[in-house]
Amino acid sequence: MDIIKLLKKLTIEEKIGQLLQLSPFHFIKDIEVEVFGNVKELGLTEKKIFSAGSVLGIHNAAEMIAVQEKYLRKSTHQIPLIFMADVIHGYETIFPVPLAISSSWNPKLAFDTARVSAIEASSAGIHVTFSPMADLTRDPRWGRVVEGFGEDPYLNAVFTKEMVKGYQQGDISKDENIASCVKHFAAYGAAEGGRDYNTVDVSRLSLHNYYLKGYKAAIDAGAKLIMTSFNVIDGIPATINKHLLRDVLRDLWKFEGLTITDYDSLHQVVPHGNAENDREAAQKGLIAGLDIEMASSCYINYLKMLIENNEVSIELLDEAVLRVLKLKEEIGLFENPYKGASVEKESRIIRSNKHLEISKNVALESAVLLKNDGVLPLSKNKKYALIGPYAETKNTNGPWSWHGKNELNHTLKEKLEEQGIILSLVREVNHINELSNEEQALLKKADAVIFALGENERESGEAHSKVDIKIPRNQEKFIEFAKEQNLDSIIVLYHGRPFDLSNILSTNAILDVYYLGSMANDAIADLLTGLINPSGKLTMSYPRHVGQIPIYYNYLNTGRPKVEGDRNEYVSYYLDELNTPLFPFGYGLSYSKFRYDNLVLSKNEMYFNEEITVSVDVHNESEIGGFETIELYIRDYVASISRPVKELKGFQKIWFAPHQRRTVEFKIKKDSLSYLNAEGLEILEPGRFSIMVGSSSDHLLCLDLICKKEVSL
Ligand code: BGC
Repeated sequence: MDIIKLLKKLTIEEKIGQLLQLSPFHFIKDIEVEVFGNVKELGLTEKKIFSAGSVLGIHNAAEMIAVQEKYLRKSTHQIPLIFMADVIHGYETIFPVPLAISSSWNPKLAFDTARVSAIEASSAGIHVTFSPMADLTRDPRWGRVVEGFGEDPYLNAVFTKEMVKGYQQGDISKDENIASCVKHFAAYGAAEGGRDYNTVDVSRLSLHNYYLKGYKAAIDAGAKLIMTSFNVIDGIPATINKHLLRDVLRDLWKFEGLTITDYDSLHQVVPHGNAENDREAAQKGLIAGLDIEMASSCYINYLKMLIENNEVSIELLDEAVLRVLKLKEEIGLFENPYKGASVEKESRIIRSNKHLEISKNVALESAVLLKNDGVLPLSKNKKYALIGPYAETKNTNGPWSWHGKNELNHTLKEKLEEQGIILSLVREVNHINELSNEEQALLKKADAVIFALGENERESGEAHSKVDIKIPRNQEKFIEFAKEQNLDSIIVLYHGRPFDLSNILSTNAILDVYYLGSMANDAIADLLTGLINPSGKLTMSYPRHVGQIPIYYNYLNTGRPKVEGDRNEYVSYYLDELNTPLFPFGYGLSYSKFRYDNLVLSKNEMYFNEEITVSVDVHNESEIGGFETIELYIRDYVASISRPVKELKGFQKIWFAPHQRRTVEFKIKKDSLSYLNAEGLEILEPGRFSIMVGSSSDHLLCLDLICKKEVSL
């Protein structure tokens, strides 16, 4: 298809239509008979609807085919619709939530989840997924931390990149590949107070060094689209932010793909106070470099008028429309408007055993063992009680799993019993008082109690911010009861955000399972019984108190850092709480026991154009084989800008047989030693660095490295 020729044939209305994205119901409902709410509010007519360029969300292949057929019957130029949807952590086979996936520290698994998602979603006729979410998250009050890969820019970039590669496999014209739309550009995760949609105010230095890294990685990996965020940056909503959309995206990063608003976010520049009305919003959007408008109607209702009045140039419109047509061409829609959609294939491959097995493998590596004083793994010779809101529920898919079917999942009870664990009492209750006296007596007779606790699936995700991130108070009573009765207890924690767990630390073990998807309880049972050794590590710091938020490991030192043991009062600390988190970034236990020693640098001084090796000996001192993630951090002591006390620069997840000792090596090159300035340009400054390797961000061996300016070798 010659898209330039096609563009020339389009009327101005038809061009503007390509920038409009609507939901499937707009096309399916008979609007001549029924002018229903949304259509009326958006000022849409049948003509405008049938000029739209793309669709948001679809139920299945049959619906996609029906919408496309109806649309093409009415379309003058036969330009097919693109179907976009939120396939976030699986389509119908649901994987762990992204926060859990990142806790696996195994990027290959992120790739696998994206592959299966693409295979399943493409069979339903979906061409673009609104994933990955690359928003850096430092505030667990924000409900959407569940959708991201945590607080670290390096880890975020690694996982984001793998997701894009998994969805697209470098060629979106192929049948089982879909295009990736990274979101939400930019810094949506920095919403003040953790309140969703709230103001963001971050410096350009922080943007480039922390918040933008994930989006950039996705774009470098070839992501075809980027979604703007709901928040303002520098007082200008991201959706109409020319600096972000043109200076950063186009000029600095050379992005050639499409930009798209978040849901209704172009219209929302009016309540933001950046435009008088939808007309001005449309003008500011196109000038800023915004292409597709999702679910509001500023472009469709006002762009024509703006162009005719010379308030916006037609060239800007053409530029945006051309990008839409190019994506359609790349997907292959002009050859086959129904690309991918197959009712037969959909029913054959969706939620297949093969896909479920992959989901279980990801789940097995995503859970994090936070505490274990020896009560885990469970013993087949003991009697356990299984109590709490998650004892018998199948609701383990978590937020953003529209197509997932919780009812097909398994319960923890079923899975533990299958493995021969004796459960003397099973009760799905929210409070200890719900147990009858008889049940309480039975509970006391158990050798230990497994509490399946947490927040429900609707308590995290979009628009689900919280100020209280403790485990629900009624659930704390379970732990108090166990303590009073001198009962051993194990908590299995289902949730979507880091919790303040300080009130339940008297428990003997905590297995943090987030929402692990379709095979959650299958995997949890294997981990609890020790069939599989837990290997996840946290990707967000768990605070001791909500008042410490934002809390993250890569903070700046300040001019008055708190030194442990030093009694000086005038330093950066809290009177009533420690500065450190309860469980730090990178922390997670295993049934094995690992010891680190012998950290060695191949050279103690390096020129920036050299590469050096850092090695460390890691020893599995236990009888149990297991995975260990070895983490590499670097500190730059003196630079033109203050640098973090440590920054993750590499990690390796490696299997250790019982008692195995291995020497693990990392390479250090200049890209691990540089930072970005406020313009996003790379800066290298010589001086003293620390090289740190260990099992968690607070458990590191450390050596100094002196870096010098390049000399020709
Ligand atoms: C969310 C996006 C999502 C979009 C489309 C918005 O409310 O913020 O993440 O992709 O809806 O469903």
